[in-house]
Amino acid sequence: MNALAAELLTALRQLLGEAYVLTHDLEAFGRDETEDLLYLPQLVVQPGTAEEVAAVLAICNQFEVPVTTRGAGTGLSGGALPVQGGVVLTTARLNRILDIDTQNLQATLEPGVVTQVFQEAVQAHGLFYPPDPSSRGSCFIGGNLAESAGGPRAVKYGTTKDYVLNLQIALPSGELLWTGANVLKNATGYNLTQLLVGSEGTLGVITKVVFRLLPYPQQNVLMLVPFHSLEGACAAVSAVFRAGITPSAMEFMEREAIVWAAEYLKIPLDLPAEVQAHLLIELDGQQLEPLYAEAEKLYEVLSTFDFGEILLADTTEQKEQLWKLRRNVAYAVKANSVYKEEDTVVPRAYLPQIIGKVKEVGVKYGFQSVCYGHAGDGNVHVNIIRGELSLEAWEQTVQLGIREIFEEVQRLGGTISGEHGIGLVQQPYMDIVMQPVHFELMRGIKRVFDPKGILNPGKIIDF
Ligand code: LAC
Ligand code: ZN
Repeated sequence: MNALAAELLTALRQLLGEAYVLTHDLEAFGRDETEDLLYLPQLVVQPGTAEEVAAVLAICNQFEVPVTTRGAGTGLSGGALPVQGGVVLTTARLNRILDIDTQNLQATLEPGVVTQVFQEAVQAHGLFYPPDPSSRGSCFIGGNLAESAGGPRAVKYGTTKDYVLNLQIALPSGELLWTGANVLKNATGYNLTQLLVGSEGTLGVITKVVFRLLPYPQQNVLMLVPFHSLEGACAAVSAVFRAGITPSAMEFMEREAIVWAAEYLKIPLDLPAEVQAHLLIELDGQQLEPLYAEAEKLYEVLSTFDFGEILLADTTEQKEQLWKLRRNVAYAVKANSVYKEEDTVVPRAYLPQIIGKVKEVGVKYGFQSVCYGHAGDGNVHVNIIRGELSLEAWEQTVQLGIREIFEEVQRLGGTISGEHGIGLVQQPYMDIVMQPVHFELMRGIKRVFDPKGILNPGKIIDF
């Protein structure tokens, strides 16, 4: 260790105490859920208060050492990987729900709260925090904010960003500030709150958040609809919305997605050979009668497509099992093969085109793909499977295929990430959806927040 590193270590230990500055066994802090990537940090710090976070940043800024903020490490674009080494700042100790305000339907919490823990805490008061990424049982709210996470319910309720009223952030200067106000309307200057959401730890560190909440929807209907073609399933999606129905979830799974999830979870699944894809559709509300009426209308719309026998989940256990299958697709794919996960999003009526393009490009470059995702949002997760591909094909040729898919996405008015962020692994494709002027605007913003470029370097674009 050189003199500077020793000085940095001493300063951080003085600030946080020896126990909260780790220097050994750091491998777990060098990975997330993105492929099998590993980048080791030099140090890991575990601040326990917002003031400590701000002080850590001031010290690292003084020493010009990179700081990568880390939640639970469930990210899928490499946002939490310390690609330039330095310090990993984990938010694990900032895990308090500070206030659930049942008068104003708001809650204030720290970034290290697990998403599902927060959902259940507000549900105990009859309240609803809708964003529900598949990893909600382990992911942190801070990571959800940093990556602008979504999930199945986004189609009716929006993503994480739609619930943020106000953020407390720490800057490399050592300052702590609130970006907005705890109100539902705010026309006061630039929207710094939303600028921070999705900024992947490159502008500041989120130390508190105020969310708005909704009343908890007491009733729901869930059905699994099998289709005989991918195109049919995709085309049915926009037809449902055009008929005036807004499901609280409208998930697409092609055949392999659900088959692999069932195998992974050891859940028996007897799928007729002709079934090529499923839509998992949920309707929710406060009363059952209108939901049944809506379900009938939904059935009418679907009946213009070629589908098989609908499974209507009629017990809580059955509903949970269907959701378990859906939430485990990504884990099942990961267990099956090395893979790359793409997060394409297009206007929803173009789903058939984008799925068609993925399959066409797969044939051209010789790769298998498994598609699933939030069809109601036009958000398709394209998993490209390594399978038997040679290392060369995997590391080079597949990129050309991904590029072709993304170029089609862009032509259709879509973009390359709906909810996983750009992080490390999507950077090579940013030129498809952004021009030099976008990069310059982002560089300008970055310089104002983080003049020395210490915050999560190597992410989003080349700052
Ligand atoms: C999902 C994650 C991978 O939709 O975004 O399951
Ligand atoms: Zn998703």
